[in-house]
Amino acid sequence: MAAQWIRRVISPKIGRTRFYSSDVKKCTLIPGDGIGPEISAAVQKIFDAAKVPIEWESVDVTPVRGPDGLFGIPQAAIDSINRNQIGLKGPLMTPVGKGHRSLNLALRKEFNLYANVRPCRSLEGYKTLYDDVNVVTIRENTEGEYSGIEHEIVDGVVQSIKLITEEASRRVAEFAFQYAQDNNRKKVTAVHKANIMRMSDGLFLKCCREAASKFPSVKFEEKYLDTVCLTMVQDPQQYDVLVMPNLYGDILSDMCAGLVGGLGLTPSGNIGLNGALFESVHGTAPDIAGQDKANPTALLLSAVMMLKYMGLNDHARIIEHAAYDTIKEAKYLTGDLGGTAKCSEYTDAICKRVIAAK
Ligand code: NAI
Repeated sequence: MAAQWIRRVISPKIGRTRFYSSDVKKCTLIPGDGIGPEISAAVQKIFDAAKVPIEWESVDVTPVRGPDGLFGIPQAAIDSINRNQIGLKGPLMTPVGKGHRSLNLALRKEFNLYANVRPCRSLEGYKTLYDDVNVVTIRENTEGEYSGIEHEIVDGVVQSIKLITEEASRRVAEFAFQYAQDNNRKKVTAVHKANIMRMSDGLFLKCCREAASKFPSVKFEEKYLDTVCLTMVQDPQQYDVLVMPNLYGDILSDMCAGLVGGLGLTPSGNIGLNGALFESVHGTAPDIAGQDKANPTALLLSAVMMLKYMGLNDHARIIEHAAYDTIKEAKYLTGDLGGTAKCSEYTDAICKRVIAAK
Protein backbone atom coordinates (compact mmCIF):
# COMPACT_ATOMS: atom_id res chain seq x y z
CA MET A 1 0.00 0.00 0.00
CA ALA A 2 1.15 3.52 -0.68
CA ALA A 3 2.65 5.33 2.28
CA GLN A 4 0.62 8.43 1.63
CA TRP A 5 -3.11 8.92 1.64
CA ILE A 6 -4.44 9.23 -1.85
CA ARG A 7 -7.47 11.45 -2.27
CA ARG A 8 -9.63 10.73 -5.24
CA VAL A 9 -12.53 12.87 -6.35
CA ILE A 10 -15.14 10.44 -7.68
CA SER A 11 -17.52 13.00 -9.07
CA PRO A 12 -16.26 16.58 -9.30
CA LYS A 13 -19.83 17.66 -10.01
CA ILE A 14 -21.04 16.77 -6.55
CA GLY A 15 -17.71 17.25 -4.84
CA ARG A 16 -17.65 13.68 -3.53
CA THR A 17 -14.28 12.85 -2.02
CA ARG A 18 -12.99 9.44 -1.03
CA PHE A 19 -9.82 8.46 0.75
CA TYR A 20 -7.89 5.27 0.13
CA SER A 21 -4.76 3.92 1.79
CA SER A 22 -3.59 2.22 4.93
CA ASP A 23 -1.75 5.23 6.22
CA VAL A 24 -3.00 7.46 9.01
CA LYS A 25 -5.31 10.30 7.98
CA LYS A 26 -5.69 13.50 9.94
CA CYS A 27 -9.24 14.55 10.88
CA THR A 28 -10.25 17.79 12.48
CA LEU A 29 -12.10 17.34 15.77
CA ILE A 30 -14.27 20.09 17.24
CA PRO A 31 -15.16 18.69 20.69
CA GLY A 32 -17.65 21.51 21.27
CA ASP A 33 -19.28 22.78 24.45
CA GLY A 34 -21.24 21.24 27.35
CA ILE A 35 -21.24 17.44 26.98
CA GLY A 36 -19.19 17.83 23.74
CA PRO A 37 -15.78 17.06 25.28
CA GLU A 38 -17.14 13.95 27.12
CA ILE A 39 -18.81 12.41 24.09
CA SER A 40 -15.83 13.31 21.87
CA ALA A 41 -13.49 11.53 24.31
CA ALA A 42 -15.83 8.50 24.18
CA VAL A 43 -15.65 8.41 20.37
CA GLN A 44 -11.86 8.73 20.46
CA LYS A 45 -11.61 5.84 22.93
CA ILE A 46 -13.79 3.58 20.75
CA PHE A 47 -11.79 4.56 17.63
CA ASP A 48 -8.57 3.67 19.48
CA ALA A 49 -10.03 0.28 20.44
CA ALA A 50 -10.94 -0.31 16.78
CA LYS A 51 -7.46 0.84 15.67
CA VAL A 52 -8.98 3.27 13.17
CA PRO A 53 -6.13 4.82 11.15
CA ILE A 54 -7.03 8.37 12.11
CA GLU A 55 -5.11 11.06 13.90
CA TRP A 56 -7.36 13.67 15.47
CA GLU A 57 -6.48 17.34 15.16
CA SER A 58 -8.46 18.96 17.93
CA VAL A 59 -9.42 22.60 17.39
CA ASP A 60 -11.12 25.21 19.48
CA VAL A 61 -13.85 27.20 17.75
CA THR A 62 -14.52 29.67 20.55
CA PRO A 63 -15.33 32.82 18.55
CA VAL A 64 -12.65 35.49 18.19
CA ARG A 65 -13.11 39.09 17.12
CA GLY A 66 -11.99 39.62 13.51
CA PRO A 67 -10.57 42.78 11.89
CA ASP A 68 -14.15 43.81 11.01
CA GLY A 69 -15.02 43.82 14.73
CA LEU A 70 -17.34 40.83 14.33
CA PHE A 71 -16.90 37.54 16.19
CA GLY A 72 -16.24 34.45 14.11
CA ILE A 73 -14.46 31.10 13.83
CA PRO A 74 -10.73 31.29 14.68
CA GLN A 75 -8.46 31.09 11.63
CA ALA A 76 -6.57 28.06 13.05
CA ALA A 77 -9.81 26.04 13.05
CA ILE A 78 -10.65 27.12 9.48
CA ASP A 79 -7.14 26.21 8.33
CA SER A 80 -7.38 22.79 9.98
CA ILE A 81 -10.66 21.91 8.24
CA ASN A 82 -9.38 23.24 4.91
CA ARG A 83 -6.22 21.16 5.27
CA ASN A 84 -7.85 17.92 6.38
CA GLN A 85 -11.12 18.32 4.43
CA ILE A 86 -12.85 16.08 6.94
CA GLY A 87 -14.03 16.75 10.45
CA LEU A 88 -16.16 15.61 13.37
CA LYS A 89 -18.01 18.14 15.45
CA GLY A 90 -19.66 18.04 18.86
CA PRO A 91 -22.48 20.43 19.84
CA LEU A 92 -21.81 24.16 20.09
CA MET A 93 -23.57 26.56 22.41
CA THR A 94 -25.36 29.45 20.69
CA PRO A 95 -25.94 32.43 22.99
CA VAL A 96 -29.49 33.74 22.72
CA GLY A 97 -29.97 37.34 21.66
CA LYS A 98 -26.36 38.46 22.16
CA GLY A 99 -22.74 37.84 21.12
CA HIS A 100 -21.81 35.94 17.98
CA ARG A 101 -24.18 34.42 15.46
CA SER A 102 -24.66 30.65 15.27
CA LEU A 103 -21.28 28.97 14.76
CA ASN A 104 -23.07 26.02 13.21
CA LEU A 105 -24.41 28.29 10.48
CA ALA A 106 -21.01 29.97 10.11
CA LEU A 107 -19.32 26.58 9.60
CA ARG A 108 -21.91 25.59 6.99
CA LYS A 109 -21.32 28.82 5.09
CA GLU A 110 -17.53 28.87 5.47
CA PHE A 111 -17.13 25.39 3.99
CA ASN A 112 -20.06 25.43 1.57
CA LEU A 113 -21.58 22.34 3.16
CA TYR A 114 -24.39 21.92 0.67
CA ALA A 115 -26.03 18.64 1.67
CA ASN A 116 -27.15 17.62 5.14
CA VAL A 117 -27.57 13.86 5.42
CA ARG A 118 -29.42 12.27 8.33
CA PRO A 119 -30.01 8.53 8.52
CA CYS A 120 -32.82 7.66 10.95
CA ARG A 121 -33.04 4.01 11.86
CA SER A 122 -34.99 2.20 14.58
CA LEU A 123 -32.62 0.60 17.06
CA GLU A 124 -33.34 -2.85 18.43
CA GLY A 125 -33.47 -2.72 22.21
CA TYR A 126 -34.76 0.82 22.37
CA LYS A 127 -38.52 0.72 22.10
CA THR A 128 -40.30 3.61 20.39
CA LEU A 129 -43.73 3.85 18.74
CA TYR A 130 -42.18 2.52 15.53
CA ASP A 131 -39.98 -0.57 15.04
CA ASP A 132 -39.29 -0.33 11.39
CA VAL A 133 -37.95 3.11 10.46
CA ASN A 134 -34.99 3.21 8.11
CA VAL A 135 -35.00 6.48 6.18
CA VAL A 136 -32.37 9.00 5.16
CA THR A 137 -33.24 12.67 4.76
CA ILE A 138 -31.04 14.75 2.45
CA ARG A 139 -31.56 18.45 2.90
CA GLU A 140 -30.29 21.25 0.68
CA ASN A 141 -28.21 23.21 3.16
CA THR A 142 -27.20 26.50 1.55
CA GLU A 143 -30.21 28.37 0.19
CA GLY A 144 -34.00 28.05 -0.06
CA GLU A 145 -35.92 29.65 2.78
CA TYR A 146 -32.68 30.05 4.76
CA SER A 147 -30.87 32.28 2.28
CA GLY A 148 -31.15 35.07 4.86
CA ILE A 149 -32.48 37.65 2.39
CA GLU A 150 -35.14 39.58 4.26
CA HIS A 151 -36.20 43.21 4.13
CA GLU A 152 -38.93 45.57 5.18
CA ILE A 153 -40.74 46.99 2.18
CA VAL A 154 -42.79 49.57 4.09
CA ASP A 155 -43.69 49.81 7.76
CA GLY A 156 -45.42 46.61 8.81
CA VAL A 157 -44.63 44.67 5.60
CA VAL A 158 -41.58 42.42 5.45
CA GLN A 159 -40.44 40.14 2.70
CA SER A 160 -38.30 36.99 2.99
CA ILE A 161 -36.82 35.56 -0.18
CA LYS A 162 -36.79 31.84 -0.86
CA LEU A 163 -33.83 31.51 -3.19
CA ILE A 164 -33.63 28.37 -5.32
CA THR A 165 -30.90 27.99 -7.91
CA GLU A 166 -30.49 25.34 -10.57
CA GLU A 167 -26.86 24.80 -9.56
CA ALA A 168 -27.55 24.09 -5.87
CA SER A 169 -30.66 22.01 -6.62
CA ARG A 170 -28.87 19.87 -9.18
CA ARG A 171 -25.91 19.42 -6.84
CA VAL A 172 -28.02 18.12 -3.96
CA ALA A 173 -30.28 16.04 -6.22
CA GLU A 174 -27.29 14.29 -7.81
CA PHE A 175 -25.78 13.79 -4.39
CA ALA A 176 -29.01 12.11 -3.19
CA PHE A 177 -29.04 9.63 -6.08
CA GLN A 178 -25.31 8.94 -5.75
CA TYR A 179 -25.82 8.36 -2.02
CA ALA A 180 -28.72 5.98 -2.71
CA GLN A 181 -26.68 4.04 -5.26
CA ASP A 182 -23.56 3.84 -3.05
CA ASN A 183 -25.56 2.71 -0.02
CA ASN A 184 -27.74 0.12 -1.76
CA ARG A 185 -30.85 2.19 -1.27
CA LYS A 186 -33.73 1.52 -3.63
CA LYS A 187 -35.67 4.74 -3.91
CA VAL A 188 -35.32 8.53 -3.78
CA THR A 189 -38.40 10.64 -2.98
CA ALA A 190 -38.29 14.33 -3.93
CA VAL A 191 -40.30 16.28 -1.33
CA HIS A 192 -41.80 19.54 -2.61
CA LYS A 193 -44.72 21.97 -2.88
CA ALA A 194 -44.40 22.69 -6.58
CA ASN A 195 -48.19 22.87 -6.81
CA ILE A 196 -48.01 26.13 -4.80
CA MET A 197 -44.45 27.37 -5.37
CA ARG A 198 -44.45 26.56 -9.02
CA MET A 199 -41.24 28.33 -9.96
CA SER A 200 -38.97 27.71 -6.96
CA ASP A 201 -40.01 24.18 -6.00
CA GLY A 202 -40.72 23.58 -9.68
CA LEU A 203 -37.06 24.20 -10.47
CA PHE A 204 -35.94 21.99 -7.58
CA LEU A 205 -38.20 19.21 -8.84
CA LYS A 206 -36.96 19.57 -12.42
CA CYS A 207 -33.38 19.09 -11.17
CA CYS A 208 -34.45 15.97 -9.24
CA ARG A 209 -36.10 14.53 -12.36
CA GLU A 210 -32.95 15.17 -14.38
CA ALA A 211 -30.77 13.56 -11.71
CA ALA A 212 -33.16 10.57 -11.62
CA SER A 213 -32.64 9.99 -15.34
CA LYS A 214 -28.89 9.56 -14.70
CA PHE A 215 -29.45 6.85 -12.08
CA PRO A 216 -31.85 4.37 -13.68
CA SER A 217 -31.16 1.70 -11.04
CA VAL A 218 -32.65 3.92 -8.30
CA LYS A 219 -36.44 4.32 -8.22
CA PHE A 220 -37.72 7.89 -8.16
CA GLU A 221 -40.96 9.38 -6.89
CA GLU A 222 -42.25 12.90 -6.23
CA LYS A 223 -44.44 13.72 -3.24
CA TYR A 224 -45.94 16.80 -1.65
CA LEU A 225 -44.47 17.75 1.72
CA ASP A 226 -47.84 17.52 3.48
CA THR A 227 -48.47 14.05 2.06
CA VAL A 228 -45.03 12.90 3.24
CA CYS A 229 -45.66 14.23 6.78
CA LEU A 230 -48.96 12.37 6.98
CA THR A 231 -47.77 9.09 5.52
CA MET A 232 -44.40 9.14 7.30
CA VAL A 233 -46.13 8.85 10.67
CA GLN A 234 -48.65 6.32 9.33
CA ASP A 235 -46.24 4.03 7.52
CA PRO A 236 -42.57 5.09 7.55
CA GLN A 237 -41.54 1.86 5.83
CA GLN A 238 -42.64 3.17 2.46
CA TYR A 239 -39.79 5.70 2.46
CA ASP A 240 -36.13 5.21 1.79
CA VAL A 241 -34.05 8.30 0.80
CA LEU A 242 -35.78 11.70 0.73
CA VAL A 243 -34.33 14.85 -0.87
CA MET A 244 -35.75 18.34 -0.32
CA PRO A 245 -35.13 22.07 -0.06
CA ASN A 246 -33.72 23.60 3.13
CA LEU A 247 -36.74 24.41 5.33
CA TYR A 248 -38.65 21.21 4.53
CA GLY A 249 -35.47 19.26 5.34
CA ASP A 250 -34.97 21.04 8.63
CA ILE A 251 -38.45 20.09 9.81
CA LEU A 252 -38.79 16.64 8.26
CA SER A 253 -35.36 15.47 9.48
CA ASP A 254 -36.26 16.31 13.08
CA MET A 255 -39.62 14.60 12.64
CA CYS A 256 -37.88 11.44 11.40
CA ALA A 257 -35.44 11.61 14.34
CA GLY A 258 -38.50 11.70 16.61
CA LEU A 259 -39.73 8.43 15.10
CA VAL A 260 -36.59 6.58 16.21
CA GLY A 261 -36.17 8.03 19.67
CA GLY A 262 -35.05 11.61 19.30
CA LEU A 263 -32.01 13.64 18.49
CA GLY A 264 -29.74 11.84 20.99
CA LEU A 265 -29.46 8.86 18.64
CA THR A 266 -29.37 10.65 15.31
CA PRO A 267 -26.13 11.13 13.40
CA SER A 268 -25.64 13.56 10.56
CA GLY A 269 -23.16 14.56 7.90
CA ASN A 270 -22.73 17.87 6.12
CA ILE A 271 -21.23 17.29 2.72
CA GLY A 272 -19.37 20.16 1.09
CA LEU A 273 -17.59 20.95 -2.12
CA ASN A 274 -14.17 20.50 -0.55
CA GLY A 275 -14.82 18.11 2.27
CA ALA A 276 -17.32 17.13 4.90
CA LEU A 277 -18.19 17.77 8.53
CA PHE A 278 -20.02 15.14 10.55
CA GLU A 279 -21.92 16.08 13.70
CA SER A 280 -24.40 14.95 16.30
CA VAL A 281 -27.58 16.97 15.95
CA HIS A 282 -28.43 17.34 19.64
CA GLY A 283 -27.29 20.33 21.68
CA THR A 284 -24.77 20.82 24.48
CA ALA A 285 -27.09 19.38 27.20
CA PRO A 286 -25.91 21.83 29.88
CA ASP A 287 -28.13 20.09 32.47
CA ILE A 288 -25.94 16.96 32.45
CA ALA A 289 -22.59 18.35 31.27
CA GLY A 290 -19.53 17.16 33.19
CA GLN A 291 -21.47 14.40 35.02
CA ASP A 292 -20.55 11.38 32.87
CA LYS A 293 -24.24 10.95 32.00
CA ALA A 294 -24.27 11.87 28.30
CA ASN A 295 -25.10 9.42 25.56
CA PRO A 296 -22.32 9.49 22.92
CA THR A 297 -24.27 7.41 20.36
CA ALA A 298 -25.23 10.27 18.01
CA LEU A 299 -21.65 11.52 17.78
CA LEU A 300 -20.34 7.96 17.46
CA LEU A 301 -22.74 7.15 14.61
CA SER A 302 -21.78 10.47 12.98
CA ALA A 303 -18.15 9.34 13.21
CA VAL A 304 -19.20 6.02 11.63
CA MET A 305 -20.77 7.96 8.74
CA MET A 306 -17.46 9.79 8.44
CA LEU A 307 -15.56 6.50 8.18
CA LYS A 308 -17.92 5.28 5.44
CA TYR A 309 -17.44 8.55 3.58
CA MET A 310 -13.68 7.98 3.78
CA GLY A 311 -14.04 4.42 2.50
CA LEU A 312 -13.00 2.88 5.86
CA ASN A 313 -15.98 0.53 5.70
CA ASP A 314 -14.60 -2.34 7.79
CA HIS A 315 -13.85 -0.11 10.75
CA ALA A 316 -17.24 1.56 10.33
CA ARG A 317 -19.07 -1.77 10.31
CA ILE A 318 -17.33 -3.09 13.44
CA ILE A 319 -18.01 0.07 15.46
CA GLU A 320 -21.60 0.40 14.24
CA HIS A 321 -22.44 -3.20 15.17
CA ALA A 322 -20.74 -2.86 18.55
CA ALA A 323 -22.90 0.18 19.33
CA TYR A 324 -26.14 -1.43 18.06
CA ASP A 325 -25.44 -4.67 19.98
CA THR A 326 -24.67 -2.78 23.19
CA ILE A 327 -27.99 -0.93 22.93
CA LYS A 328 -29.81 -4.16 22.06
CA GLU A 329 -28.35 -5.92 25.12
CA ALA A 330 -29.75 -3.00 27.19
CA LYS A 331 -27.33 -3.63 30.06
CA TYR A 332 -25.40 -0.38 29.77
CA LEU A 333 -27.94 2.20 28.63
CA THR A 334 -27.54 5.86 29.57
CA GLY A 335 -30.30 7.83 31.33
CA ASP A 336 -31.82 9.29 28.17
CA LEU A 337 -32.51 5.71 26.98
CA GLY A 338 -34.03 4.70 30.29
CA GLY A 339 -30.89 3.13 31.78
CA THR A 340 -28.57 4.03 34.64
CA ALA A 341 -25.16 3.52 33.01
CA LYS A 342 -22.58 6.25 32.88
CA CYS A 343 -21.24 7.49 29.57
CA SER A 344 -17.91 5.82 30.42
CA GLU A 345 -19.56 2.44 31.20
CA TYR A 346 -21.48 2.46 27.91
CA THR A 347 -18.28 3.45 26.09
CA ASP A 348 -16.29 0.63 27.72
CA ALA A 349 -19.01 -1.89 26.78
CA ILE A 350 -18.72 -0.83 23.13
CA CYS A 351 -14.90 -0.96 23.29
CA LYS A 352 -15.06 -4.57 24.57
CA ARG A 353 -17.24 -5.60 21.63
CA VAL A 354 -15.01 -3.76 19.16
CA ILE A 355 -11.88 -5.49 20.50
CA ALA A 356 -13.63 -8.88 20.41
CA ALA A 357 -14.65 -8.30 16.79
CA LYS A 358 -11.15 -7.35 15.58
P1 NAI B 1 -30.11 19.95 24.01
O1 NAI B 1 -30.16 19.00 22.87
O2 NAI B 1 -28.77 20.35 24.48
O3 NAI B 1 -30.86 19.30 25.29
C1 NAI B 1 -32.23 18.90 25.30
C2 NAI B 1 -32.40 17.74 26.28
O4 NAI B 1 -31.84 16.55 25.71
C3 NAI B 1 -31.69 17.96 27.61
O5 NAI B 1 -32.45 17.43 28.65
C4 NAI B 1 -30.40 17.17 27.47
O6 NAI B 1 -29.88 16.70 28.70
C5 NAI B 1 -30.82 16.02 26.56
N1 NAI B 1 -29.70 15.54 25.71
C6 NAI B 1 -29.25 16.13 24.58
N2 NAI B 1 -28.23 15.43 24.07
C7 NAI B 1 -28.04 14.37 24.91
C8 NAI B 1 -27.14 13.29 24.91
N3 NAI B 1 -26.21 13.12 23.97
N4 NAI B 1 -27.21 12.40 25.93
C9 NAI B 1 -28.15 12.53 26.90
N5 NAI B 1 -29.04 13.52 26.94
C10 NAI B 1 -28.99 14.45 25.95
O7 NAI B 1 -30.98 21.21 23.61
P2 NAI B 1 -31.09 22.66 24.28
O8 NAI B 1 -31.10 22.50 25.77
O9 NAI B 1 -32.22 23.30 23.61
O10 NAI B 1 -29.79 23.45 23.84
C11 NAI B 1 -28.64 23.64 24.67
C12 NAI B 1 -27.57 24.38 23.85
O11 NAI B 1 -27.16 23.58 22.74
C13 NAI B 1 -28.03 25.73 23.28
O12 NAI B 1 -26.97 26.67 23.46
C14 NAI B 1 -28.23 25.47 21.81
O13 NAI B 1 -27.99 26.58 21.02
C15 NAI B 1 -27.17 24.40 21.56
N6 NAI B 1 -27.48 23.52 20.39
C16 NAI B 1 -26.45 23.20 19.57
C17 NAI B 1 -26.66 22.35 18.50
C18 NAI B 1 -25.49 21.99 17.64
O14 NAI B 1 -24.37 22.38 17.91
N7 NAI B 1 -25.71 21.24 16.58
C19 NAI B 1 -27.98 21.79 18.20
C20 NAI B 1 -29.01 22.17 19.17
C21 NAI B 1 -28.76 23.02 20.23
